[in-house]
Amino acid sequence: MQEIDEIKIQEQYIEKVTQINKDKNLKYYILTMGCQLNENDSEKLCGMIEKMGYRPTEQYQEADLVLFNTCCVRENAEDKLFGKLGELKRIKEKRGTIIAIGGCMMQEKHITDKIHESYPYTDIIFGTHTLHKFPEDLYKILEKQNKLQDVIDIDGKVYEGLPIKRTSNIKASVTIMYGCNNFCSYCIVPYVRGRERSRHPKDILQEIEQLAKEGYKEITLLGQNVNSYLKSEEWKEKQIEYEGINSFATLLQKINKIEGIERIRFISPHPKDFTDDVIDAIASCDKVCKLVHLPLQSGSTNTLKLMNRKYTKEQYLNLVEKMKSKIPNLTLSTDIIVGFAGETEEDFEDTLDVVRKVCFEQVYMFIYSRRVGTPGDKMSNQIPEEIKHKRFDKLKQLVESQIEQNNQKYVGTVQKVLVEGPSKNNPELLTGRTDSNKVVIFKGMPELTNKIIDLKIISEHMWYLKGEIINE
Ligand code: 5AD
Ligand code: SF4
Repeated sequence: MQEIDEIKIQEQYIEKVTQINKDKNLKYYILTMGCQLNENDSEKLCGMIEKMGYRPTEQYQEADLVLFNTCCVRENAEDKLFGKLGELKRIKEKRGTIIAIGGCMMQEKHITDKIHESYPYTDIIFGTHTLHKFPEDLYKILEKQNKLQDVIDIDGKVYEGLPIKRTSNIKASVTIMYGCNNFCSYCIVPYVRGRERSRHPKDILQEIEQLAKEGYKEITLLGQNVNSYLKSEEWKEKQIEYEGINSFATLLQKINKIEGIERIRFISPHPKDFTDDVIDAIASCDKVCKLVHLPLQSGSTNTLKLMNRKYTKEQYLNLVEKMKSKIPNLTLSTDIIVGFAGETEEDFEDTLDVVRKVCFEQVYMFIYSRRVGTPGDKMSNQIPEEIKHKRFDKLKQLVESQIEQNNQKYVGTVQKVLVEGPSKNNPELLTGRTDSNKVVIFKGMPELTNKIIDLKIISEHMWYLKGEIINE
């Protein structure tokens, strides 16, 4: 297969770069912006880079290779990237640091143009479809010292077998599909990540079985729209079915049977594709966490229409009701955008209304950020920044009061907690997470790390709970 050959070629480049770097004691620094999919991509980049003889450093000033894995979902990431690139100029002049920039932002021409113009000392620019070719790109720079741009517009293939360096040895992310077909009118993702492509179930199962063998307890399945897994035209034509897997629901059921894995999470589903089989699978699979992330984006039917979300306020609320009735102990988290073009006070009130009704466990709130090339950017009735911020603050206030109320419900209960190790803020204490992804801090022996234990919740503190071990 072509994809396998391509990975073999890259393995040869890894070998060549390793030879060049031999005994040089080189270091790399990586900055990852954006979502968990990008973090998973960075784990693959780190896997390749470390194979090529670089060790990680947290100080970019001492790095021989600096890599930015960018996100373009909101504007603030752009400011961050250009700020960092500016800082690197002097360091590059002094140390000859190789600068590489990859990820979603590099799929945007106005950004790569700006880099060529204002930061011409950047060595490698690579896109979302050419990540697997990083060893080749790096080799070319090391050999020829020319600048290089490796960005393609056509959808990349699904490459398997890249080395990977995971950031945790307890929880792992597994990308199950790439790209998005939904074209929500505010969102740049479909333009920079291409159309939906699902990974073959065999490859996903193999990866998770390997993770289980290595002792991982929790996996998070990743995709822009996980419940359309295997639903793209390409897969429908092939009528793929592998060991009973032909949909997202059947994938969950199969993973639920993998010994060693104890928790399964997934992000993000789209409410319009949340079919009954997925609800039933969540209800019946004991390892699938009962916290479901269900992006709302707006509570107003008008705004949802403008956003091209393909559901109404009522449909969203009905879906939540159905899920609550079928899945005992269900909790929900969500994403909300405030200040999308055309959003009136009334529309915004609808968003607050849904938040009040659903009582989310967690809300990721965003101020609408205009993205070049999306329909949202071309809409005439943009909301002034000051109103967006006012609405954001109002929503934040409501969400925080709900979280506080929600937290109260935990006090006095017993929760199953996956222990992650010593707490960063206080190494005397351990930290872990409940099924509903709440952080719990408690006193205990470090040997409990990577185990699921029962903890009694004794108090709540907005962003974390305090627990204690139950003495039998
Ligand atoms: N502005 C603000 N937030 C956005 N998101 C996506 N595009 C934009 C944008 N242009 C948010 C959505 C999505 C989350 C990952 O980022 O809420 O679910
Ligand atoms: Fe963007 Fe919508 Fe696709 Fe999510 S579903 S990645 S918000 S276009």
